[in-house]
Amino acid sequence: MKNRFEWWQGWMEKKSKYARTTELQMNEGRFNAAAVGTGLPLIYQQSTFKFENAADGANRFLGMSPSGEKPFARVYTRLGNPTTEYLEKVMFKLECDHIIQNALKADESLPTIGVFAFSSGMAAISTTILGFIKPGDALIVGNVYGSTDSFVRFLENRFGIEVFFVDTTDTQKVKECFDEHHNIVAVLLETPANPTLEISDIQAISELTEANEALLMVDNTFATPFLQQPFRMGADIVVHSMTKYINGHSTSIGGIALGPYEYFSNELFHVYKDLGPTPSPFDSWLNSTSIQDIGLRVKTQSESAHKIAQFLHENPLIDHVYYPFLKNHPQYEMAKKQMRMGGGVISFELKGGYEEGIKLMNFFARVDTPMELAVSLGSVISYIEHPASMTHSVVPEEERVLRGITNGLIRLSVGAEGSDVLIEALDRGLKLAHGK
Ligand SMILES: Cc1ncc(COP(=O)(O)O)c(C=O)c1O
Repeated sequence: MKNRFEWWQGWMEKKSKYARTTELQMNEGRFNAAAVGTGLPLIYQQSTFKFENAADGANRFLGMSPSGEKPFARVYTRLGNPTTEYLEKVMFKLECDHIIQNALKADESLPTIGVFAFSSGMAAISTTILGFIKPGDALIVGNVYGSTDSFVRFLENRFGIEVFFVDTTDTQKVKECFDEHHNIVAVLLETPANPTLEISDIQAISELTEANEALLMVDNTFATPFLQQPFRMGADIVVHSMTKYINGHSTSIGGIALGPYEYFSNELFHVYKDLGPTPSPFDSWLNSTSIQDIGLRVKTQSESAHKIAQFLHENPLIDHVYYPFLKNHPQYEMAKKQMRMGGGVISFELKGGYEEGIKLMNFFARVDTPMELAVSLGSVISYIEHPASMTHSVVPEEERVLRGITNGLIRLSVGAEGSDVLIEALDRGLKLAHGK
């Protein structure tokens, strides 16, 4: 073994005992009950907290307590805040319910997983990587969101971190990269990936990362904990942009990371406190209210998206539809295995290309259509966007097309308007874009 991380052995033992499981989904009723939680938190809209006495002050500075409480969440809001702690606990239950149950049964005295909320998804991703990376280390990075991609390139250019961009949908390619390079400390992937909706095999890749004493970090933003719980399949760190489905109403920007307790409490906490990527108590409160119905929202959105994907698949004005639960998806079997449903995002290839894409966007910019022309996703409002002219317009065309983001690709995030209404609007918009 490489003795890369001091906490590795302890984490491996706990991971095999409590986290890995053959049951890949949390029971739906239990999930919804955990999301509703135990009521609502108060908004602790304050930057600092009064101590009872000197000893109390000193105690609260000691960090995360074994009971999972965070005494420092009652010191100074950059370190943590009770409203944010409430949200962290709900997310912890949604991603890790089985770990909690298994550890309780085994009378485990220390928490297995640590959790921190952040002011954005990017703050969660960048801070969590900065907590473990060292000069000379290497990362394997899959097809990831633009800012994640540019953050790892920044690490490479400024700090001597090597980055290998690998198609993580092909486990063999990940293996070959590990065989060739012995300084890889983590694999970072999204599944489903943004915007191509490619699926990576979490379980198979986690076996490779474990054998190489490297971390598997899964961005679970698109799936949400309702559809997929990566710790069950061997992930070491799970991150989310809470801006998307956790919030669900486009009212705030936020992020969250969960991972080995020892790493989070001893190492990552210091980076968190020094960088200051903490969310505001009000944003944590907003997310604590909206997370309560995440299961209901994501179920409705997935049901609608599946019907819309089928409609698009059969539409002669569409060249190709990317949706994990459509049989033509290259990783359909894998998606079915690791996800409860197909999710709320669909990408599709318009016949024609760029011009038709722009026309379709302009149709949905109109006030009489049930979608918004906007680049976020995961809201109860449907959003449609054209990556070639919007989110990915900065990527050189050749590279963009190689990554599957072609001129005619459209990304649709299905909201809660209902599939009939959305299909009717798409039908009108597609005909108009094609001059029919
Ligand atoms: C998969 C994924 N990860 C991370 C992010 C970054 O999240 P945020 O915008 O909350 O910083 C996004 C944003 O679109 C995303 O789609």
